[in-house]
Amino acid sequence: MAVGRVFWDFFSKSYASQPVADEDAYQVKLELTRVYLTTDSDVLEYGCGSGLTALSHAPYVRHILGTDYSRRMVQIAKNNAAEQEIDNATFEQAAVEDLSQLEGPFDAVLALNILHLVADWKGAIAESYRLTRPGGVFASSTICLPKLNIGLKLMSGFANVTGLMPRLSPMTQDELIAEIEAVGFEIVERFQPEGGAIFLIGKRPI
Ligand SMILES: C[S@@+](CC[C@H](N)C(=O)[O-])C[C@H]1O[C@@H](n2cnc3c(N)ncnc32)[C@H](O)[C@@H]1O
Repeated sequence: MAVGRVFWDFFSKSYASQPVADEDAYQVKLELTRVYLTTDSDVLEYGCGSGLTALSHAPYVRHILGTDYSRRMVQIAKNNAAEQEIDNATFEQAAVEDLSQLEGPFDAVLALNILHLVADWKGAIAESYRLTRPGGVFASSTICLPKLNIGLKLMSGFANVTGLMPRLSPMTQDELIAEIEAVGFEIVERFQPEGGAIFLIGKRPI
């Protein structure tokens, strides 16, 4: 069982029913992303949760594939798609660690509130580049905690051992940006509400 999946399965319903924490910032991120989407776009969102973002982008793209390792999250996303009568969004259970099994390319790859939960976040960024079509974009929203304090260290250690909580990968904003650029993306958008996750869009050169 992948680390943390039990946690996300357990809290899927309550996560899905919570309102977005910062609605204004969320709308800005949707708008910034949509600049790079067209009705011909094929999009991948990994760690898609309840499918909220995938379903809001769906009317603007050809197809969006949402993946998440939590079976229950995927089921909620599928139910939401059916309820909203959206038929160009599909959802599959898959771990970020298995991105190498996915075939691209996609016009846009989205990693929203997920990289800081993945041990090999650098590997996920490298896979995102492989999966992005030349000229396409990689959008990420990431909580950058440079150092875990003792409480977070204990929590993350507990998460690693038990798989009952999400683990946290410490990283600085500079490290995140450096990694996104190192794989080949050029940062074209950067947005960060005060105290919030950093939202970046990287473009894969043609
Ligand atoms: C904080 S939620 C974010 C959901 C959505 N992207 C959003 O912004 O609302 C994190 C999601 O990532 C999923 N997740 C965490 N680690 C994962 C992994 N290693 N592989 C696939 N999904 C993962 C969880 O199941 C959960 O649905």
